[in-house]
Amino acid sequence: MAVAADDQVLEIGCGRGAAVSLVASRLTTGRIVAIDRAATMVRLATERNLNHINAGRAEIRCAGFEAADLPARRFTKIFAVNVSLFWLGDATQPIDRMRSLLAPGGQLYVFGERPTAAHATANLTATKLLLEARGFTTARSSAIRGQGQVLTCVSGTPIE
Ligand SMILES: C[S@@+](CC[C@H](N)C(=O)[O-])C[C@H]1O[C@@H](n2cnc3c(N)ncnc32)[C@H](O)[C@@H]1O
Repeated sequence: MAVAADDQVLEIGCGRGAAVSLVASRLTTGRIVAIDRAATMVRLATERNLNHINAGRAEIRCAGFEAADLPARRFTKIFAVNVSLFWLGDATQPIDRMRSLLAPGGQLYVFGERPTAAHATANLTATKLLLEARGFTTARSSAIRGQGQVLTCVSGTPIE
């Protein structure tokens, strides 16, 4: 994601907050808002990132994305890792909302971990089609992780 020091980042479905730590440690004037609908995950993510929260670089909230109170056209980067809303059910409305939350020039990053290369390819294709159908141009990449896991990423830039 090439996080810049002044990025305004939104993470959807932050889980235990591992990515919050990685992103927040790159920020100076920027900020990450991370949401998760599970209170237990928010507690764990908050404990893990107390230093970043106290420094004003991170905010972690218990909220479902669909109803979360978030400012329009604010975020330079929005991302999610292994969050099923992209692949289960109709993702049209959530993706349109993500688009409306992106600042001009902002980008959406959809990450997923899959057990095999074949699963990864299917995931990349499905995610790419999903974003393109909602008015994004896309780029995709993947990397082998430990124990044969493949990390996939489709990034999307809104077509103006
Ligand atoms: C499989 S976990 C991944 C957690 C983390 N991103 C990671 O990779 O370790 C998915 C997380 O997304 C959250 N989640 C799923 N749908 C969500 C939604 N619509 N709004 C907010 N959080 C959501 C779940 O509560 C869960 O913590």
